[in-house]
Formats: sequence, structure tokens, C-alpha cells
Amino acid sequence: MHLRLVRSIVRSWTNDDLGSLVRYADNRKIWLNLRDRFPHPYTRRDGRDFIHLARSQRPETMFALEVDGEAAGGIGFVQHTDVERVSAEIGYWLGEPFWGRGIVTEALVAVTKYAIDTHGLTRVFALPYARNTASCRVLEKAGYVLEARLRRSAIKDGEIIDQMQFAFIP
Ligand SMILES: CC(C)(COP(=O)(O)OP(=O)(O)OC[C@H]1O[C@@H](n2cnc3c(N)ncnc32)[C@H](O)[C@@H]1OP(=O)(O)O)[C@@H](O)C(=O)NCCC(=O)NCCS
Repeated sequence: MHLRLVRSIVRSWTNDDLGSLVRYADNRKIWLNLRDRFPHPYTRRDGRDFIHLARSQRPETMFALEVDGEAAGGIGFVQHTDVERVSAEIGYWLGEPFWGRGIVTEALVAVTKYAIDTHGLTRVFALPYARNTASCRVLEKAGYVLEARLRRSAIKDGEIIDQMQFAFIP
């Protein structure tokens, strides 16, 4: 997969991305906003395992966000199963030096469309933590609609938190 956008390229992960992946992913500010399966600290071993997993998936659903010639972040989706196979959850992160340039908003629009078109989806959703105002804003800018506040639905870093349920319906 290779989508050339104005601010980034959304593309398949390669083994050469290991250095930049670990450099940008190893950041507590990023980890605080993601699921616990995103490691912290983020080691080279974690990076190797992740790239191997992303590259072995068929169809591919986890992509690198290339900015200024390096893998600066990631974006991907998980298609649900059984009667929810028309739904997918989307997630993303970007290295801190690249924040605030509209990179993820543009990529989110493109990958949402890609997921819908290639997987026949009727719904793509995201569950940012309520305190993650930047991610909530990105979702709004990309055309997602707030459906619910899932009160006290998660625990992160020892704290019980609310999640915001945003969905895009084509
Ligand atoms: C959230 C994240 C993906 C945003 O990526 P980005 O490329 O910087 O986002 P954009 O530049 O497209 O848009 C950011 C928007 O949030 C706003 N924003 C940024 N920080 C904010 C804050 N602390 N409070 C309120 N709004 C904020 C920006 O002003 C901008 O909105 P605007 O265009 O209306 O001004 C990035 O910060 C990140 O990777 N964070 C850590 C991981 C994460 O949260 N992932 C998402 C999990 S659901």
C-alpha cells in the first residue's frame, strides 16, 4: 500500500523503519494516549516484532506515516468479526516533533476512505480518552461524529478514565 498525500505518505512498514519507529514511539506522552499493548519503554525488540507483524498481515491494515523521508508514526485499523464485520476501529500516533502540522487529520481522512472502500465497511470508529483533546479534534476535523462518552470504561496508568466514542459513517 502506498498513498501519497500532501503532508505525508501512508505506506507499508519496512524493516528499514526500525530506527525511526523506536526513536519516535519511545515516548511516554504517546503511550499515555494509547492502549497498554503499545509498549513503554519502546525497545528495538518491540519495534522488530511490530514491523514483522505489520508486514505479515494479509490484508495489511497497519501502515507507516512517512514524513520528511522517515517513518514518523503509524495508523491502522482492526476489522471486527461476526455480525460486526462491517465495523472497524481505527488508531494512530505521530512522533512528537511532527505534531500540529495537520499530518494525522489528512492521513485519517485517507485511511478511513481506504478502509471503507477495500473492506466494504459501514462504520469506522475510534475511542480516544476523554482528556485527549488533540485526538478528539483530529476526529472531528476528519468528519467523525461524537456518539457517546463511555464513562469510567478504561484504566490507564492506574487511573480510571472515560473514553469518547467517535464514528465515521460513509
Ligand atoms: C493526537 C495526534 C495523533 C494528533 O496528530 P497531529 O498530526 O498533531 O494532529 P493535527 O495537526 O492534524 O490536528 C491537531 C488538532 O488538535 C489541536 N490540539 C493539539 N493539542 C491540543 C490540546 N492540548 N488541546 C486542544 N486541542 C489541541 C490542534 O490545534 C489541531 O486542531 P486545529 O487544526 O483545529 O488547530 C498526536 O498528537 C499524537 O500522536 N498524540 C499521541 C498519540 C495519540 O493520542 N493517538 C491517538 C489515540 S486515540
